Amino acid sequence: MHSMIEIFLASSESGHSLVAMAYLVAGVLFILSLAGLSKQETAERGTWYGIIGMLIALAAATLSPDVTRYGLLALAMVPAAVIGGLLAARVQMTGMPQLVALLHSFVGAAAVLVGFASFLDPHAGMNTSEAIVHEIEVYIGICVGAITLTGSVIACLKLHGVMSGKPLMIPGRHLFNLAALIVTVLIGVWFVSGAVSSDGIVIDTTGVILLILATVITGVLGVHMVMAIGGADMPVVVSMLNSYSGWAAAAAGFMLGNDLLIITGALVGSSGAILSFIMCRGMNRSFVSVILGGFGAAEGAVASSDADQGEVIEISAEDTVGHMQAAKSVVIVPGYGMAVAQAQHALADLTKQLREAGVTVRFAIHPVAGRLPGHMNVLLAEAGIPYDIVLEMDEINADLPDTDVVLVIGANDIVNPGAENDPASPIAGMPVLQVWKSKMVVVMKRGMATGYAGVGNPLFFHENTRMLFGDAKKSVDGMLGAL
Ligand code: TAP
Repeated sequence: MHSMIEIFLASSESGHSLVAMAYLVAGVLFILSLAGLSKQETAERGTWYGIIGMLIALAAATLSPDVTRYGLLALAMVPAAVIGGLLAARVQMTGMPQLVALLHSFVGAAAVLVGFASFLDPHAGMNTSEAIVHEIEVYIGICVGAITLTGSVIACLKLHGVMSGKPLMIPGRHLFNLAALIVTVLIGVWFVSGAVSSDGIVIDTTGVILLILATVITGVLGVHMVMAIGGADMPVVVSMLNSYSGWAAAAAGFMLGNDLLIITGALVGSSGAILSFIMCRGMNRSFVSVILGGFGAAEGAVASSDADQGEVIEISAEDTVGHMQAAKSVVIVPGYGMAVAQAQHALADLTKQLREAGVTVRFAIHPVAGRLPGHMNVLLAEAGIPYDIVLEMDEINADLPDTDVVLVIGANDIVNPGAENDPASPIAGMPVLQVWKSKMVVVMKRGMATGYAGVGNPLFFHENTRMLFGDAKKSVDGMLGAL
């Protein structure tokens, strides 16, 4: 069957148009996939569209009449598919960001290699203006690819804990970045003008040397840019590198004349950019300030301003359960600490039992709760918590004043009233869940440490707030025991 298709494609005039049609179908499936992934209810369907689209694309690319050396292709594809499959199957949810970063680095590497190949072996018969456009594509593809490659490797090492998450702040670093950028543009002008003559493309050693030089400079730029970013801003950087990898793929698509690569690259590039923007807005940080780096170095520090805010009132797991059983409506706010403690399954049990006892239980999700976009949604879905009781911040904030008990589990910054009423707070202006407006708040955390932003939280000292200290999983287990 396989060889029949092969023969048909290779022998038929329509081979290329069949491939183009398959690419079109794959492109549509990718768009449907993105649309599906935007809602929890349709996310699984979206994933399937993506998988089918990618299988069609792979089959079309492999069986295309342009491919002749199947042995070589198999040598590259089979081990890669096995390694990729094993890695993805084994990765823990908490290790996902570094896997994603590593995969972006491959896209960057591919764009650099395609760039060199496309310079050394261009399509024949280009006129002068086509040749100029081609060489610009090669140059941009290589530069964006090299930044993506090295930046993603550093991001992966930082996220994996191999390198320190602290931002590297060398003196004059902005000047260094600017100088590297200007030199890259100048080399680009030199390269394009030298690589095109009135007869078309000139392939010479100078061209290769200039491309290597540009690869090294943009590679160093990628390393330096990501080194300067604090561990806590890493998720934004990963989504930014995701966007870069999309543009690198699109550039490779232009070089290879592959429409699907252009479509897919543009989809990835723009969705990554939109995601970075949404994350920055959720944190009230400007995109530029994230890129310039230096934030989020002091995660976990105890805020110095806590001392003069009074005493906190502790509560036991048993008493918390008592209040929840007596409540009509309970809202649970999960945060990064729930992910650390892996408390979602125990929380799902607690929710089920309370709902069976007639209590209305809902979850409130802040757009940047945890450390990944959709972090909480994924964990709650994994634990089987029904989607219809999981609400976004904007959907539930207005209901909080009528809520009897709010259970804050491992969240901190996203429920900090200082963001609304303390203009001097580093998170001033960040939209937050107004849990302090409810009748009672129980905050579950291990101690008085700050969260990601490193700021103290006045919520802990409010008169209607109770602190349930301890690991979130152990505390929920304690509550289940009491139930
Ligand atoms: P955080 O403000 O980081 O607070 C998490 C809290 O969980 C900490 O105060 C910690 O206090 C507690 N905790 C840690 N381990 C725990 C455990 N095992 N059991 C119980 N509690 C535990 O988290 P958040 O409220 O989810 O806010 C997210 C923050 O990350 C925001 O500032 C956001 O801007 C930032 N951020 C988010 C993203 C995305 S895309 N989600 C990306 C980058 C940055 P103790 O140590 O005292 O227990």
